[in-house]
Amino acid sequence: LSCLPDVRERTLIAVKPDGVQRRLVGRVIQRFEQRGFKLVGLKMLQVSEELLSQHYCELRMKPFYPSLLHYMTSGPVVVMVWEGHNVVQTTRMMVGHTNPVEARAGTVRGDFGIHVSRNVVHASDSLEGAKREIQLWFQGKELLNWDSCDQTITL
Ligand code: PPS
Repeated sequence: LSCLPDVRERTLIAVKPDGVQRRLVGRVIQRFEQRGFKLVGLKMLQVSEELLSQHYCELRMKPFYPSLLHYMTSGPVVVMVWEGHNVVQTTRMMVGHTNPVEARAGTVRGDFGIHVSRNVVHASDSLEGAKREIQLWFQGKELLNWDSCDQTITL
């Protein structure tokens, strides 16, 4: 077991209001499960402007910031924490370019998006960003550690 990679890396992924409204939650989750990542936190919520202003604090001077907040509060989001080897970098690649017009087919935004202001999902962009965002969106007790049954059940 000591040769297994460190799988404790975590990232925050959110299905944005357009993704929820278009019934894409299941398909987004399926991609990360299929890839082999482990879901350790999941909830649906109507996000407050206060939480969003912290989440997007680096963007507050951008011209699109007011419309980004309006969009992100237009309906519930589904926010998740995924765990696994290189999960931050790999999920960013699976989500695709911020602007769907540049996102490759096979990525979430390349398959489901057409406009940067409705780009279906959010994914943390770095390890530091992921740590900050996970602490912002989740309480420690909402993140669960679990093992695969083949590791815990002896037939
Ligand atoms: S930037 O300008 O380089 O800092 O922006 P970027 O890193 O590409 O994107 C940061 C987040 O802003 C969202 N975004 C937008 N939202 C609405 N309208 C427009 N025009 C727009 N441009 C960028 C983008 O989706 C990123 O959000 P997250 O949730 O991180 O994906």
